Amino acid sequence: MISPGYPVSRPRRLRTTRPMRRLVAQASVRPSSLVLPLFVKEGIGEPQPVPSMPGVVQHTRDSLRKAAADAVDAGVGGLILFGIPAVKDGRGSAADDPDGIVQVALRDLSAEVGHDTVLMADLCLDEYTDHGHCGLLTQAGDVDNDATLERYASIALAQAAAGVHVVAPSGMMDGQVGAIRTALDSAGYAGVAICAYSAKYASAFYGPFRDAAECAPQFGDRASYQQDPAATRDAVREVELDIAEGADIVMVKPALSYLDVIAQVAAVAPVPVAAYQVSGEYSMVEAAAANGWMDRDRMIMEMLTAISRAGADIILTYWAAEVARGLAVR
Ligand code: PBG
Repeated sequence: MISPGYPVSRPRRLRTTRPMRRLVAQASVRPSSLVLPLFVKEGIGEPQPVPSMPGVVQHTRDSLRKAAADAVDAGVGGLILFGIPAVKDGRGSAADDPDGIVQVALRDLSAEVGHDTVLMADLCLDEYTDHGHCGLLTQAGDVDNDATLERYASIALAQAAAGVHVVAPSGMMDGQVGAIRTALDSAGYAGVAICAYSAKYASAFYGPFRDAAECAPQFGDRASYQQDPAATRDAVREVELDIAEGADIVMVKPALSYLDVIAQVAAVAPVPVAAYQVSGEYSMVEAAAANGWMDRDRMIMEMLTAISRAGADIILTYWAAEVARGLAVR
């Protein structure tokens, strides 16, 4: 008989000390599961700060090598590269140019840290097109799904030739994973993996990234290809399609506002699940912390723990190196 005031079961017994809490915890944020996104810009002499992402820069080739080596030394599990070309055009020609900025940077990083980490590259066109959309446009200004697939296949080959280990298609074109897998396999790159941005929402949380990667759409928005935040059944369908097409890892993005989606995907996916803690998630914490409104380090760890608890095996975060180095295991 449980008498009021004297519960037999006392959950608080397992919360008494830090060592006790650590012993009984299930979710964890492991440095080796964190991936650091890095921006590299063609034709700059010095790293350029990104105003809406305090602490994040657009790297030169040199500063990129140093940042990559530092992150790997800190213990992160991987790096994901985003390139900003000096010249943009309608078809995003720099994206698959063997001398394009990402290819050059991948060769640098292969030599520098290629044996010690996983090198990933975002595979998309928005950083490379003058209109800022993730694909080729029709005369009417719509994104042409199937014409874009050919571009993505070609970018995959350029990145593979430059030494990428994992390509990460983020443009949300239907059939992109299959087109990329076929192209890689037929060119002898069967060993290059695909991390599909499978459930990627049309989100306001990408705002600061579009400064960092200089890729805001010049007209319209991405709502005709990225998912609607209110479409609850879309995520599992996209994940199943991507796995059927050959995705090795599936990703949910953003993370914090989509923890339910991470959990749904983790429940059904037979492959590792990644979650991308995006630019807006980073910037809102940094802004609140800069104002002295909240405890930055605790917020970071609480958010990362929540993403892990929801079921993410891998987390892409701009705090990856810092967390790996120090904040992590308490
Ligand atoms: C598209 C891409 C975007 C992000 C990653 N890949 C931008 C977009 O879809 O508009 C956003 C990442 C972030 O906000 O941190 N290449």
